[in-house]
Amino acid sequence: MSEMERTLTIVKPDSVRGNVANEVLGFFERAGLRIVALKMVWLSKEQAEGFYVVHKERPFYSSLCEFMSSGPSIVAVLEGDDAIARVRTIMGATNPADALAGTIRRKLASSIQENAVHGSDSPASAEYEIGFFFSKSEIIQTERKQ
Ligand code: CMP
Repeated sequence: MSEMERTLTIVKPDSVRGNVANEVLGFFERAGLRIVALKMVWLSKEQAEGFYVVHKERPFYSSLCEFMSSGPSIVAVLEGDDAIARVRTIMGATNPADALAGTIRRKLASSIQENAVHGSDSPASAEYEIGFFFSKSEIIQTERKQ
């Protein structure tokens, strides 16, 4: 059975620089996912290090954090049935060379690091990553009555 989920996506600095933020978000909207929170941020290196702390021991950690703080990003919370897995399918493989046709990274990513978009990889990381950028009051309650 599918479950209503929320996940965090980042339109990464390469996409914002390339004026394709709308295309990244369009992939998700066309799939029926709802944007329930959205803002533009320019991460500091320290913030990027905090966001990607799970990758601390990886050889690419420092350059990833440099890249993520190299310009503005757009962060958003997406909501929908099975949102976490669906967003990952829509994004495609981390390395654009492995990404399937029709995915965001196949179309827009230029390298394994500058790969256009991020999406949470599990319910636990979605919770951490949403809380990293948004307070409860900044997330739209879709069940709200008028
Ligand atoms: P993301 O889905 O945001 O999760 C971690 C990020 O690290 C990943 O996308 C890439 O931007 C980056 N990354 C993952 N593997 C590598 C790698 N081998 N070399 C450089 N960057 C990487």
